[in-house]
Amino acid sequence: MWIAITRDVSASLAGCQLSFVPRVPIDLDLARQQHAGYVRALESRGCRVLALPAQDDLPDAVFVEDVALVFDEVAVMTRPGAESRRGEGASVAPLLASLRPMRAIEAPGTLDGGDVMRVGRQVYVGRSARSNDEGIEQLRVLLAPLGYRVHAVVTHGCLHLKSAVTIVADDTLLVQPAWVDVAQFAGYRLIEVDPAEEHAANALRIGDGALQDGVLQDGVIHPLCFPRTRERLEQAGIDVTTVDVSELQKAEGATTCCSLVLRDLAHPHGD
Ligand code: GLY
Repeated sequence: MWIAITRDVSASLAGCQLSFVPRVPIDLDLARQQHAGYVRALESRGCRVLALPAQDDLPDAVFVEDVALVFDEVAVMTRPGAESRRGEGASVAPLLASLRPMRAIEAPGTLDGGDVMRVGRQVYVGRSARSNDEGIEQLRVLLAPLGYRVHAVVTHGCLHLKSAVTIVADDTLLVQPAWVDVAQFAGYRLIEVDPAEEHAANALRIGDGALQDGVLQDGVIHPLCFPRTRERLEQAGIDVTTVDVSELQKAEGATTCCSLVLRDLAHPHGD
């Protein structure tokens, strides 16, 4: 029912872009083991994983979410805000082209997938250091005929919109109120991260609230190191799978950024 596109960890991960976290040594072997655990978590939540080989000359290429957006109707190749990341999309595009009609953000627009959160037909886009007004406007024009409404959202103190807020169920968002004005999400049920867990707002939802074979297949993948926020999620009825991604967090990554999750339109019921 779901496809997850991933990419193996680059040998040059330690040279990654960093914006809001300090540079500290990264254990590459451990990062690779943790990434393999993340892939297993995707599989355990019902994803068919399509794994791309590492791109050793592109440190951030494991963060495959940033190079494309995938909707049921279309895929959009982004134009990442960090110049060092603009080569990452070339090997993702042919795979996506086999799954969706393709569009692209063009210069001078910039857009990182980590800045884009879809909630039904509403698409929230972070106006961050990586995504600019031109990129957001191009996305608005691309998506309007498909019935999606794009909302620009200002973030502060974090890399991407999805550092500050992610969808965890149809009507429910996990938020870090220090990094985004939550008044913009007033219509949704909001779960705040525990104050002691600053980076805990990034959860990867797999599911859409639909039943599969009579069973609700819906839940999130969330970092192991945020137990207090996990408790809040579970108390709200969210099914949580934890993954240890400590080494990827040192590269300013988390759970959404390591995959592109899309509906498997060829096998919508998992058959
Ligand atoms: N290291 C993740 C990013 O800055 O894009």
